[in-house]
Amino acid sequence: MPSPNLQAARIVAGTLTLLSREIREVGHPVDLWSPALPQDSIRDMAAMVGRGAAVPLWVDERHPAKGLALYHRSDWESEFLGFEAARILGPFMVVENQLERETRVRRLANLAIEQSRIRDHYLITIKTFHDPAVLRGFLGENFVMAEIGTSLTGTVPEEALTAERPAGFVVLEDDDVSELAADTVEALGDFFYDGHWRNDRVPGPEKARLLWSQVALEDLTGKADPALLLWDQRRGRPAAISTVRISGQLAFLSILAVAAPYRGRGLGRLIMHETLNRLRGRVGEIKVETASYNLPALKLYHSLGFVNTAPLAALHYHRQAGLSSRPSRPE
Ligand SMILES: CC(C)(COP(=O)(O)OP(=O)(O)OC[C@H]1O[C@@H](n2cnc3c(N)ncnc32)[C@H](O)[C@@H]1OP(=O)(O)O)[C@@H](O)C(=O)NCCC(=O)NCCS
Repeated sequence: MPSPNLQAARIVAGTLTLLSREIREVGHPVDLWSPALPQDSIRDMAAMVGRGAAVPLWVDERHPAKGLALYHRSDWESEFLGFEAARILGPFMVVENQLERETRVRRLANLAIEQSRIRDHYLITIKTFHDPAVLRGFLGENFVMAEIGTSLTGTVPEEALTAERPAGFVVLEDDDVSELAADTVEALGDFFYDGHWRNDRVPGPEKARLLWSQVALEDLTGKADPALLLWDQRRGRPAAISTVRISGQLAFLSILAVAAPYRGRGLGRLIMHETLNRLRGRVGEIKVETASYNLPALKLYHSLGFVNTAPLAALHYHRQAGLSSRPSRPE
């Protein structure tokens, strides 16, 4: 007799496989943004359930395809934030009727909140689609909207990209970048746009800034490859950085930032060209996420052939401050 975790893992794998097939064949409008639900991620999610690292939440166990989400402790968020944080994956469901979908999402949100109480997690985060029924379902259960983002995928071009490098700028990499990492993070200042952490009162802008500084530091000192620095020789300071994290065949643009005084002069395009050139032969595709309102970044990515693959909303639930972190109603 398989353990309860293994049994649950099988049901999760079966349900997600069924959903992915149904989405592919029928093309349900709300699921168009995840047309593939790739086998790799199905396998990963089922494995998490199998080893007890994720708990499946079902709206109705007899009809698993009509409402499933996975709940798990988020190790890196807990470590970064200094308090216990969890993540929801999903929701996964094929339900045409908006109102029914909203009701089912509310049930999943409640089940997740119950888990957060049992496991003493203070924060639950989820990145999900912009489906209004899904958003209403979570917001109706005191989740707050932390960010509206867009996920994009670009193809690494077969031919080398060229961009004119203005006089006085050089591209640094490898050890040169590691050596200059701390000064670079300092010099770039408040460069990131990630409202996922910044727009919420907890952890808030200051903690979010530290968090991203930490990511940048890790990337520049070995975690990312390539990690490039565009150096202004005249002023003796960094003008831009880009870092890519690669895992297997998957490349993710971790950071792209041009220091404020250097923006709008073609340096963002230049460092992206240099980055894509270094990915040729290593990966075929690169993914990136940015805020949906970050028009300069979106325009740059689109002009490089990136296409939007999914709209993403980041929602947070604070176990103790769920209500108080909402803006108060005007009298
Ligand atoms: C996004 C960013 C990297 C662009 O760098 P940049 O050096 O200013 O951009 P470039 O001068 O190379 O311009 C490249 C393209 O971006 C677009 N763009 C740049 N600034 C723009 C602006 N203010 N408004 C609209 N489009 C803009 C244009 O399409 C431009 O192409 P074009 O010159 O052919 O019209 C830069 O604005 C930045 O660092 N922003 C803060 C950090 C950030 O948001 N990073 C991305 C996170 S995913």
